[in-house]
Amino acid sequence: MSDKTHLSKAYTSILVSEIDNKGALKTGLVQLNRPDVLNALNIELMKEVVEALEGFDRDGETGCTVLTGNKKAFAAGADIKEMADAGAVEMLLRDQFARWDRIRKLKKPVIAAVSGFALGGGCELAMSCDMIIASESAKFGQPEINLGVIPGAGGTQRLTKAIGKARAMEMILTGKMFGAQEMFEAGLVTKVVDADLYLEEALELAREIASKPTIAVQLAKESVLKSFDLTIESGLEHERKNFYLLFATEDKHEGMKAFVEKRRAEWKGK
Ligand code: HXC
Repeated sequence: MSDKTHLSKAYTSILVSEIDNKGALKTGLVQLNRPDVLNALNIELMKEVVEALEGFDRDGETGCTVLTGNKKAFAAGADIKEMADAGAVEMLLRDQFARWDRIRKLKKPVIAAVSGFALGGGCELAMSCDMIIASESAKFGQPEINLGVIPGAGGTQRLTKAIGKARAMEMILTGKMFGAQEMFEAGLVTKVVDADLYLEEALELAREIASKPTIAVQLAKESVLKSFDLTIESGLEHERKNFYLLFATEDKHEGMKAFVEKRRAEWKGK
């Protein structure tokens, strides 16, 4: 089913489009668009981002989504001006992280294409995606400590799981920025590419994923993410059930038949 309402909404802080992948499922593209403030993540922008990502997740014609900013900034963090006068109770009532939790529930893969600053909530938003393609100019950091707070959208958890305690402690306790290459070596970033090519590279990766059998892609993503929550015993059990479940799909039969017949598989997404 292809529900396209997410493409026609009147967004104020993001740009949304879809890219045709010629034969494969499409790629959804969500671009943060508050360039004057380095894409600072205010509540309105996050509301729109989550709506657009969920729209592509529901759209039967989309296989993968890319989330990006602009050359200078993926996002320089939560909008400090929006939080500057807020107290604890107001922040609690805003409950903005409930919206962030919805990103974790997306079934289809989301790739962050990062150039320039990915700081604070910006780094956390990139880490909420399934992979990060970074321009060689990208700078990652969790500078909240310099504002008298700590990361609030998963930074202490996702960063630590991605790059380990030693590096995460350094980033979170000093608030310093680290370059793309260093973050690649630490395990946060999938690939570092030339500053002019980061979006193209992310779109190419998305196209490749969109050309794979959809249900297998979704269960593969789900199984990998489960590894963060489960013990090895429960994780293996979960993986095994998903593996067996895929034997019920038409695409499994097509994939294996095509291999035996030495031809290209034609996926149905069923
Ligand atoms: C609001 C911001 C902003 C932010 C930049 N701007 N970051 N506005 N919130 N997070 C605005 C600036 O006020 C300025 O607008 C314009 O963007 C350009 O920024 P400059 O500082 O002039 O640019 P530059 O000198 O190039 O410095 C870039 C920078 C710096 C190093 C990235 O902007 C910076 O340190 N930003 C804050 C980074 C940060 O602390 N992020 C964490 C936020 S807390 P005007 O109108 O003044 O010209 C957070 C908590 C997460 O993310 C919780 C979960 C959501």
